[in-house]
Amino acid sequence: MSEKERLLKLAEEAKNCVRCRLYKTRKNVVFGDGPLDSPIMLIGEAPGYWEDLKGKPFVGAAGKFLDKLLALAGLDRGKVYITNVVKCRPPGNREPKPDEVEACRPYLEEQINLIKPKIICTLGNVASTYLLQKFGFRVQPMGRIHGKVFEVNQLKIIPLYHPATALYKPPIKTVLEEDWMLLKARLEHLAT
Ligand code: URA
Repeated sequence: MSEKERLLKLAEEAKNCVRCRLYKTRKNVVFGDGPLDSPIMLIGEAPGYWEDLKGKPFVGAAGKFLDKLLALAGLDRGKVYITNVVKCRPPGNREPKPDEVEACRPYLEEQINLIKPKIICTLGNVASTYLLQKFGFRVQPMGRIHGKVFEVNQLKIIPLYHPATALYKPPIKTVLEEDWMLLKARLEHLAT
C-alpha cells in the first residue's frame, strides 16, 4: 500500500475512533486537510465549533485569520497540510486533556511519518509542546521560542503563536503577523 493509501485508510478508521471520551460529543472527526505530499505541515490544537461541524481544520474565526497569515508568508492554503494534535472537539473548546492527546498520538505520528514534511509549524502551546517534547527539545514559553527554527533529522520545527490568540490578545496579532512575514523569508531560504 502506498503512503497516500495508508493515510486515506487511517483517516477512514479515525472516523469511528473511540479511543477517548471526545467521541461522545463530537459531530465529526477532523483528521486533516491538504496535499498528502506537502513539504509544509501546520499543526493546531484541536477542532473548535465550526471545525467539528464541517469536519475540516481551521474553518472558523481562527481559520480566517490563519488564511491572512498564510498570505503574509506567501503560502496558499491548498498547498499546505493542516491538522491538529487532537482530532475531535473538546467540549466548550477547552484545552485537550493529556490522556486525550495521548489517545490521539498514533494519528499524528502516522501523519508525520507518512507525509514526511520538511517543515512543521506548530500553532500554539499544545502543538509546540507536543512536537518539541517528541524530538527531545526543552519546552520553553512561547514568548521565547516563537518564530525560531528547531532542526532535527532534516526536519525543521517552527513554533508560532496560535492564530486564535490574536483574537483575544490584540498585541499578539502584530507579533504573529511579523512572525509569518519572517516565515516567508525563512521558507524561501529553507526551500533552497
Ligand atoms: N483551533 C485549532 O487549534 N484547530 C482548529 O482546527 C481550529 C481552531
